[in-house]
Amino acid sequence: MTIQWFPGHMTRARREIQEKLKLIDIAIELLDARVPLSSRNPMVDEILQGKPRLILLNKADLADARTTEKWRAYFTGLGYASLAIDASTGSHVNEIPVKVKELLHEKIARQIAKGMTPRPVRGLIVGIPNVGKSTLINRLAGRNIAATGDRPGVTKGQQWIKIGTEMELLDTPGILWPKFEDQLVGFKLAMTGAIREQVLNVEEVAFFAIKELVVRYWDALAERFGLTEPPRDATDNDELVRVMEDIGRKRGCLVSGGRVDLEKASGIILRELRAGNLGRITLETP
Ligand code: G4P
Repeated sequence: MTIQWFPGHMTRARREIQEKLKLIDIAIELLDARVPLSSRNPMVDEILQGKPRLILLNKADLADARTTEKWRAYFTGLGYASLAIDASTGSHVNEIPVKVKELLHEKIARQIAKGMTPRPVRGLIVGIPNVGKSTLINRLAGRNIAATGDRPGVTKGQQWIKIGTEMELLDTPGILWPKFEDQLVGFKLAMTGAIREQVLNVEEVAFFAIKELVVRYWDALAERFGLTEPPRDATDNDELVRVMEDIGRKRGCLVSGGRVDLEKASGIILRELRAGNLGRITLETP
């Protein structure tokens, strides 16, 4: 589901998160490991108001592992702990409660020093739509709790989900908006599937994808679609369209007269890219 964000929605989303912040000890910020910058809310530092934070690079299964490590180092440099995870299979997800406890150890130690039995630490997952918040909540809970495709303003009664004995998670995530006033961000999110095609033209998104892939991942593109020659000039739009046509021909996307059905070819390019069929791809480096 694609959320149409208007200023009113953003204000409401922000207010909802700030209400939830009062209840929690730590915010868990979910990013897409393929596009850690574009999947980041532009105002997240301001919104989270200095709450302890753990950054999760989700969908790491689809991202370039070496670049993901660079991103982790980048966030360490900014003073944030991070983990690279795959919420859909649960890879590294069990490290989350451990990391959370580590980040809150001073608070826990203070409670113990006062003779209190430390209560479970409470967390909130935040992130833009489609980054994997519901998948992660369900994975941590070990059962289906969060409905995917949620949106701000549609909250049910809030409940705490127990994650082991020492952590609890709010069952509804905090939904943030991307920096969509930046067109490049929009294209990257569309390319990775965070923004559905209905909003943007499929051929334009596929063209953008080809442009990125020719420069960053020509070998993967060539191998997947059986292409032989890279375009001589990756900034020449005609040559890039020719790459799309080549792919279309290889996949039998032809219309009468032997012309390539670019819309159909575009659909194939995007579907296979998003499914990880071209290999692990990251579009942003720190
Ligand atoms: P949201 O709550 O933040 O909006 O995101 P949601 O959990 O609905 O996840 C959005 C899509 O991303 C889902 O796919 C989900 O399966 C996929 N996803 C989440 N985490 C990961 C991950 O770590 N790796 C991979 N490869 N995919 C992940 P979908 O196409 O919308 O649905 P479906 O095809 O899974 O049914």
